[in-house]
Amino acid sequence: MLKILLNKFNYMKKSILILGANGFIGNALIRSLLLDKKYKIFGMDLYKNNLSDLIDNKDFNFVEGDINISNEWIEYHIKKCDIIIPLVAIATPNVYVKDPLKIFELDFESNLKIVKWVANYKKHIIFPSTSEVYGISTDKKFNEYKTNLVVGPVHKSRWIYSTSKQLLDRVIIANGDQNKLTYTLFRPFNWIGPKLDSLKNAQLGNGRVLTIFINNLLKNKNITIVGSGKQTRSFTYIDDGVDALKNIIKNKKKLNKKIINIGNPNNNVTVEFLAKKIISIYKKKYPNKYKGKIVYKNQKIFYGEGYEDIPVRVPDISEARKYLNWKPIYNLEKSLYKTLEYYTS
Ligand code: NAD
Ligand code: UGA
Repeated sequence: MLKILLNKFNYMKKSILILGANGFIGNALIRSLLLDKKYKIFGMDLYKNNLSDLIDNKDFNFVEGDINISNEWIEYHIKKCDIIIPLVAIATPNVYVKDPLKIFELDFESNLKIVKWVANYKKHIIFPSTSEVYGISTDKKFNEYKTNLVVGPVHKSRWIYSTSKQLLDRVIIANGDQNKLTYTLFRPFNWIGPKLDSLKNAQLGNGRVLTIFINNLLKNKNITIVGSGKQTRSFTYIDDGVDALKNIIKNKKKLNKKIINIGNPNNNVTVEFLAKKIISIYKKKYPNKYKGKIVYKNQKIFYGEGYEDIPVRVPDISEARKYLNWKPIYNLEKSLYKTLEYYTS
């Protein structure tokens, strides 16, 4: 009897397919969903180092694989699952400039294939758009439905990530209108936290600003600020982001056809402030260890000709408040402290 009940309960669990499961957002989301014991999760990634403690969980079925090769597995699991969350992408600006075709092929083409399957099998897709789609818009706060998406000229390859994501957003929306695809687009604003990037990648410049700074701190190297350092970002702690994503998963019907910014406008600071803050937190934790200093570098020298920066980026989160009843709770100090703690432990 107990076995029958357990089987029935398992049968009732929602099944979710997560591609890019080992990534920063993927591993944190899976970890949190598994704690709820309400979901069956199927995951794929090229690597599994961030998931090693979850592999034996009976509600998690992970396969090491390449989304460009494992077509049969992916199509089968799209058919089988209720919700599809494709998180595979390269999301580091250095690569947008150095290898824009890779961005087009992986971030756009590989994900387009997934979107088409999801539309074909009439499943719900929760797709990671990005704050980068708003580009260099001058709006004080970026709104999902009102802000114009403004990018630089085509030879500035930095924008290939933004425009690849934008076109996928548009393809998903068109599939919603023409093929009854149900979807939610979410736009993360500079999420930070444990496992953001590997320090090995950050060392090569293929990381996001915070992991590059932390790598420099740990290696006792100077911290380089690109340009004046007056450009701002609204840093958002991963647990707040995951909390919002789980609300989207729980309320997928209510969230159908919605676009949701997920960011923390209270943590909007300049990159210069970020550098000073992370140095001061590190020095408090490890007095007399860091001997480096802050240096400034021209953006063309740091990234190359194809780079353009984004001066200001603040999310309007009224949609997230309204539809998810969500607001971020981690302030910058705590977010930085927790991230640094992970990388130093
Ligand atoms: P991430 O780089 O940490 O994760 C991507 C994962 O995809 C990695 O684990 C990687 O191994 C995997 N992957 C790469 N190529 C693959 C392939 N061919 N086959 C299978 N797996 C492959 O990125 P993230 O920060 O977790 O971002 C997830 C998504 O959210 C991306 O689409 C990104 O563009 C978007 N996003 C993230 C942020 C942020 O603040 N982190 C902001 C905006 C948008
Ligand atoms: C990022 C990436 O494009 C994606 O990860 C993501 O989709 C997007 O943000 C987002 O959150 O939506 P960006 O914030 O420009 O874009 O990338 P970072 O590498 O984190 O850089 C932030 C700022 O720090 C930029 O102004 C950059 O020039 C600066 N920076 C970076 C430095 O001053 N020093 C460094 O060593 C690295």
